[in-house]
Amino acid sequence: MKKSVVILGLCALILSGYKIKSGEKDYAEFRPHMRAVYASLMTIFPLTLNKSSFMSKDNTKTIQDNLNLIAEHSTMINQLASKDEKGHAYMSFQLERNARQAARKYREGYGDQAHFFVEEVFDTCLSCHTSRSSASDSEFTMDFAKNVNMDALGTFGKAKFLSLSRQFDQAMDEYERIFTNESMSSEELLHFDPLVDYLVLAVRVKNENDRVIKTFSTLMKKPMPQMIKHDLEVWVEALNKVKKRNKKQSDLEYAKILIKEGKTVNEYPRDRSGLVYYIYASKYLKDHLKKDKVSTQDKAETYFQLGLCELAIGEPLLAAESGMYLEEAIRLAPKSSFARQAFGLYEEFLMYGYTGSSGTKLPAEEKAKLAELKKMVF
Ligand code: HEC
Repeated sequence: MKKSVVILGLCALILSGYKIKSGEKDYAEFRPHMRAVYASLMTIFPLTLNKSSFMSKDNTKTIQDNLNLIAEHSTMINQLASKDEKGHAYMSFQLERNARQAARKYREGYGDQAHFFVEEVFDTCLSCHTSRSSASDSEFTMDFAKNVNMDALGTFGKAKFLSLSRQFDQAMDEYERIFTNESMSSEELLHFDPLVDYLVLAVRVKNENDRVIKTFSTLMKKPMPQMIKHDLEVWVEALNKVKKRNKKQSDLEYAKILIKEGKTVNEYPRDRSGLVYYIYASKYLKDHLKKDKVSTQDKAETYFQLGLCELAIGEPLLAAESGMYLEEAIRLAPKSSFARQAFGLYEEFLMYGYTGSSGTKLPAEEKAKLAELKKMVF
């Protein structure tokens, strides 16, 4: 198995040609590490599906060896990505932390905790891969993905697995198959939020505007709760509007227009009506950061707007990312027009994150950081 994985990896490495837009960053240096972590994850994946195989003596060596490899490559991914824009830096830091914890807990015999961190590793791969646009799906994972027993993964598991594997097109097919399947319950739609996952994938990663309009228009004809129907209607309207973009603006300028629009259509704090605008805005902002020549002021504002977007989109891991965006916006341009608002949101974000049943308990280091940022801004 291992040998064929290595050979397959080498062939793909040699055969694959990647096209990138000029003026944008290439992630070629990520690729060998990505392939290695993926190969290790695929090796242990079937063994993680139930607790007894995960802790069985027969599998311990395979699992431990691969968890160690994932941890080592994650450290290298973190080293590479920490020089990149802040979103990537943050995600890769999370990846390394989760991978190290998984390997350590497994070595110490804490099966449940190790399993928890393995799942966190999967989630981090998925979040990072769906956090920005991708020009083409991975050729490297195509054959791997075919060999996985997807039936064990539950209704949306297959779609998520395909996204994690950067088989984005197939993942969209899978969501669409589920959405048009008569037997899907409205509880599933409400509980798992697959419509939002699908939107993020189709809009932010693949920029497949027409395809989403088609899917949602079909879906609207089916019987479903009024709330979801309303969301679908405003989303289709927004998707049609975004299609008419005036290309004269920069990505940052256009993103700001979209965010304003999103704010206008949202009627109450947890309203999801503006979601399409925020997801599109986040896509353009991240595209903007990928460019080689961005001034410090522009970068700061882009981070600030990204913070607003991720707070509004509200995906758990990405919402955590938003605090870091706001912090970076402040650090880059503490005297800018938006720095005070960024600080206010950052403070609120921290307080919210550390509030429990016994009140707000900010750790000393967070308190110190807050004071430092405040001093910069005011
Ligand atoms: C910090 C963000 C980030 C994290 C975290 C991350 N990836 Fe990636 N991954 C990328 C990017 C960016 C690319 C695209 C590289 C390119 O341009 O081909 C990529 C590409 C890949 C590829 C395709 C490689 C190829 O040659 O086609 C695989 C497979 C992959 N990642 C697996 C994983 C797995 C498994 C994890 C979790 C253990 C993971 N990645 C975590 C950002 C990330």
